[in-house]
Amino acid sequence: MSFDLNSLLRPHIVNLQPYTSARDEYTGKEGVFLDANENPYGSITDQDFNRYPDPYQSELKEKIAAIKDVKPSQIFLGNGSDEAIDLLFRAFCNPGVDNVILLPPTYGMYEVSASINDVAVKKVPLTTDFQLQTDLIFEAINDKTKIIFVCSPNNPSGNKVKRSDVLLLLKHFKGLVVVDEAYIDFNDEPSFTNHLKDFPNLLVMQTFSKAWGLASLRIGMAFASEQLIKILNRIKPPYNISGLTQDTVLAAIDKQEKVESMIQKILDERDFLEKHLLEIDAVQKIHPSQANFLLVKVPAANQVYEQLIENKIIVRNRAKVQLCENCLRISVGTRDENKAFIKALKAILD
Ligand SMILES: Cc1ncc(COP(=O)(O)O)c(C=O)c1O
Repeated sequence: MSFDLNSLLRPHIVNLQPYTSARDEYTGKEGVFLDANENPYGSITDQDFNRYPDPYQSELKEKIAAIKDVKPSQIFLGNGSDEAIDLLFRAFCNPGVDNVILLPPTYGMYEVSASINDVAVKKVPLTTDFQLQTDLIFEAINDKTKIIFVCSPNNPSGNKVKRSDVLLLLKHFKGLVVVDEAYIDFNDEPSFTNHLKDFPNLLVMQTFSKAWGLASLRIGMAFASEQLIKILNRIKPPYNISGLTQDTVLAAIDKQEKVESMIQKILDERDFLEKHLLEIDAVQKIHPSQANFLLVKVPAANQVYEQLIENKIIVRNRAKVQLCENCLRISVGTRDENKAFIKALKAILD
C-alpha cells in the first residue's frame, strides 16, 4: 500500500500559510516582552496568567514522549481529543465531497464533527459482540473515503476490538486509520503507538480525561508520524492549551504512581459492580468491559433510567443506540456511589 499524505490532504491545507504568533517569532525566555499586547502588570487573579503560553507545549511534550515512548515531534496536544477529531476533518475532508467510515455503536463526536464539517458518514455496524466487520468496511471504502475511526476499547460497549482487524485496515486502506484509545489505561493490551513506525496512515488518540482524572482541564493527545503532526499544528488555534493546563499536567505526570493506584481502584470497583449486577436476576446482560464503565442490558431501560434519576442516580441511557437496545452505560464510581446505584437498581428491578 502506498500512502501519500499530501494527496490525502485538502489542497488548500497543503499550501496553507499558518499564523505565526509572537511566541513563534521570538522563542527566547529572557528579555523585555513588548511583542504580544499582554498586560505588563500581571493578572487580576492571585496567580499570574498575563503571558501567552507556549503554543507548541514543548516542555510538556518532552515529558509525555518519555512516558509514551514516542518522539515529542510525534505528539499533538488538543483541547480534549475532541479538538484533534475536528482538526482531522478540517485537514483531510472536503465538505460535500469526501466521506469517513464510522463503526457504530461508537463515540458520538465522530459523527457530530463530520456533520459540523459537512462530511458524509458511511456506517458499518460492529458485530453483535462489537467487533469489526472488515469485509463490509472494505466494501464501503471508495476513492472519497479519507478516514476510518476505530474506538478501542470502544465507547459505549467497553470491549477492545481485535488487533489483527485493525492491522488489516492499516495495511490495505490508503486513507487514515484513527485508533481512539481514550480508555487504554483500563486495558491490558499495548497501545497502537507501537505500530506508528510501520504505518504512516495511523493516528492514535489518547486523553488525560479518564484515568488521569483531568477531564475539566481539556487535554487530549494524538500520536502519529512527524509529518502528520506538523499538519495538525499548522491548523490548530495558536494557543490551544492554556498555561494553567500545561503546568498542571506537567506536575501531574510526576504522580504516575497515583494514577496507577486510581486505575487499580477503578478496576476493583468495576469488578464490584459486575459482581452485584450478576446477583440481580432481571439484569439481562453485562457486556465485558476493558474500560471504566459497564454496558448493561435491563428490561424497559428507558423506564429504569427515569426511575434511577428519581433516586438521583444518573447513568447514560443508550437504549436507542444501534446494537445497545435496552442498555444503560454505567460509569464506575466510588464504592459508596456504586453501592447506591446497586441498591436503587435492585429496588427498581426486584
Ligand atoms: C472514545 C472517546 N474518545 C474521546 C473522548 C473525549 O475525550 P476528551 O475529553 O479528551 O475530549 C471520549 C469521551 O467520553 C470518548 O469516550
